[in-house]
Amino acid sequence: MLDCSNLMMEQCSYPSIFIYGHRATGKSHVMHTLLKELELPYATVSCVECVSVGLLFEQVLLSLFGSDSASLLSRSPSLSDFVRVYKQLCVQASAKQTRYIVLDRAELLRNMETNLLPAFLRLQELDNVTVILLSEIVWDKFRPNTGCFEPLLLHFPDYSKGELQQILSEDSHPSYSPELYSAFINILLGVFYSVCRDLRELRHLAALNFSKFVEPLEQVKEGDTHKLWRNIEPHLKKAMQTVYLREVSSVQWEQQLQMEEKEAGAVRGLSAHAHVELPYYSKFLLIAAYLASYNPARTDKRFFLKHHGKIKKTNFLKKHEKTSNHLLGPKPFPLDRLLAIFYSVVDSRVAPTASVFSQISSLVTLQLLNQVGHDDQLDAPKYKCAVSLDFILAISRTVSFDMVKYLYDFL
Ligand SMILES: Nc1ncnc2c1ncn2[C@@H]1O[C@H](COP(=O)(O)OP(=O)(O)OP(=O)(O)O)[C@@H](O)[C@H]1O
Ligand SMILES: [Mg+2]
Repeated sequence: MLDCSNLMMEQCSYPSIFIYGHRATGKSHVMHTLLKELELPYATVSCVECVSVGLLFEQVLLSLFGSDSASLLSRSPSLSDFVRVYKQLCVQASAKQTRYIVLDRAELLRNMETNLLPAFLRLQELDNVTVILLSEIVWDKFRPNTGCFEPLLLHFPDYSKGELQQILSEDSHPSYSPELYSAFINILLGVFYSVCRDLRELRHLAALNFSKFVEPLEQVKEGDTHKLWRNIEPHLKKAMQTVYLREVSSVQWEQQLQMEEKEAGAVRGLSAHAHVELPYYSKFLLIAAYLASYNPARTDKRFFLKHHGKIKKTNFLKKHEKTSNHLLGPKPFPLDRLLAIFYSVVDSRVAPTASVFSQISSLVTLQLLNQVGHDDQLDAPKYKCAVSLDFILAISRTVSFDMVKYLYDFL
């Protein structure tokens, strides 16, 4: 944090800064807080939200030059349109202070227009501006092979246990003393720190378990942490089994909270799978995706072809291949395999009329499916199923699909 603020206080600004570090190490939070506190002119753009470069350009201009500026861009602007408009606006409003452009989840820039990343790294040629790229990925995997200006590299290390304790304790509950909350965080970290250091996960776990922690307070005094500990221990142990296996990731949970704040409680929590309402065919798509992620591709014939002829059971069950696919985690699969399995599992039901593709992209947006391997644009897109076994079993029950019968691991 100090490093960053020193950088910003310096007279001569860097053309670009590349900030990298694991998830939830405060990259976005620290940058945002600094720029706001120092009252510097800045634009932050999340590359995830920019489905087109046009949107990205528009957001940069809007934040830096106000609401009229974006109208100077053409309908689907190219990089050179952006540069032209940016230049024009700089002449009109020359920068007294360095302007900052923060591009969050910057690894996605690599999949946009080829020249985009090199151009942003040289933007200072136009204006007194610093471009800050935030990413989980190291710069070496980032650098375009055509070469480009090198940014200043800055690493955000993982938070230490003490730092986590401090940050998490700030969330204290209004009806309880900060000391009690801090004691609870201490217990929580004692249990989870060895398996989970992700601030988002830990925050979620804290929110989930605090009410259980204070339950005995009617009979027990606040200071009697031993009794409180005895009461909470079994709950934390149970929660331990499901760290990272939750139906909803902490990122979704965070977004959900933000949305709930915005809509003043109009939307209810996504946190229990009972509340995830998917369209009928999307459920089958998700089931198909789960099967594609956890069954070896060579077994598809056996499961999904009605008349697959004789495939020797011994061959089929290569059980020396003992490792459970569930332990190995979901494997990526191509779209055509997903569709083949999908049509096979819905077959007896009415054929879908709704657009299958738009439902797939909705599942990706909901983070129930992940798109992978986007680096390789020559290849067709690949996906991975991102839901837990419990979740998919619950979904398949709602459409009376006997999931276990189709899973290789459970044969
Ligand atoms: N120093 C901090 N003080 C208070 N809250 C923090 C701090 N650092 C991170 N957080 C909170 O933790 C969560 C994750 O932080 P942040 O989004 O900044 O991580 P990130 O490094 O950008 O992660 P990602 O790579 O996933 O984008 C946010 O809700 C943020 O508000
Ligand atoms: Mg971030």
